[in-house]
Amino acid sequence: MDKISELRAEFEKKLTQIADLVDLDKLRVDYLGKKGSITALLKNMKALSNEEKKTFGAEVNRLKGYAATRVDEKIEELRKAEVEREIAAMPQFDITAPANTARGSYHPITLVQRQCENVFRSMGFTLEDYSEVVTDYECFESLNIPKFHPARDMQDTYYLDNGQLLKTQTSAAQNAIYRKYGPRLIEKGEPIKAVFPGRCFRNESTDACHENTFFQMEGVMVGKDISISNLIFFMKTMLSEVFQRDIKVRLRPGFFPFVEPGFELDINCLICGGSGCASCKHSGWLELCPCGMIHPNVLREGGIDPDVYTGFAFGLGLTRLAMMKYGIADLRDLNSGLLNRLDQFTGEW
Ligand code: DAH
Repeated sequence: MDKISELRAEFEKKLTQIADLVDLDKLRVDYLGKKGSITALLKNMKALSNEEKKTFGAEVNRLKGYAATRVDEKIEELRKAEVEREIAAMPQFDITAPANTARGSYHPITLVQRQCENVFRSMGFTLEDYSEVVTDYECFESLNIPKFHPARDMQDTYYLDNGQLLKTQTSAAQNAIYRKYGPRLIEKGEPIKAVFPGRCFRNESTDACHENTFFQMEGVMVGKDISISNLIFFMKTMLSEVFQRDIKVRLRPGFFPFVEPGFELDINCLICGGSGCASCKHSGWLELCPCGMIHPNVLREGGIDPDVYTGFAFGLGLTRLAMMKYGIADLRDLNSGLLNRLDQFTGEW
């Protein structure tokens, strides 16, 4: 019996000195393994009487059970200590400290796009979405730009194996819009008034003013007696809203196969107010938005009779508008993802 209590005391003493799981496992093998000291006690029982064997055996088994439980407890204890050590080693933070309030911001193009959308919606235009991958028919043919028309040269783009292409202009959605709203115009006399922003692509060598990816917002209005005065009114209203000041506009002739007559819409220079400066090449005007009266062929292709209805279309360069509004000198910054340049607009929206 002394042997048992001695072994128990010895085991307890060693157990308290154990500091990691590897040593603990060694201790377990030393005492409880096949050749361990506790197991050995059972082997040494031969000399004992049957009566003694019973009580001694029971005592040894109790010690065995006790040792196994203590090993399990120690495992728990060591694991807990390990977690506590890890927590203590972690960088401490003060949960009561005020939060870091730096927030992300909308991209400058998103900001101007939303502004334009809101203004046009408030004037009764519907807002349309359109895909970036389109057919040759949508992007060119339906817009009075047949195959081998020289106007295609300026709009080289990325073609897919199936003959589709990344749209070079938001005008590519025009035909679908006429087909969508044309019946309502014809049956109920409700004019088509729609804007459709979108990402456009062209095969360009990039520099401060050219990118292979840019954003436009196309707008159309088609109905009875729609004229250039309507176009001027809507563009002036939208621009005055976006720039938050009264904007003067002027139209110069411009050629686009899908409008007749076609124009370049200029606004008075925002830097010098029109008196002439380096930004406007001393002309007092900045070129902003090509537009025009929709060509009869384009209306006809969209299922609308050009002898009854007329309309205007414009292709506002959102990228250009964002650059003007925010004074961004290099267009490439807009696609760069450089947050330290883009986040200066935080809080704008
Ligand atoms: N789609 C033309 C371009 O990207 C811009 C344009 C010109 C759109 C005249 C129009 C328009 O709707 O009437 O070069």
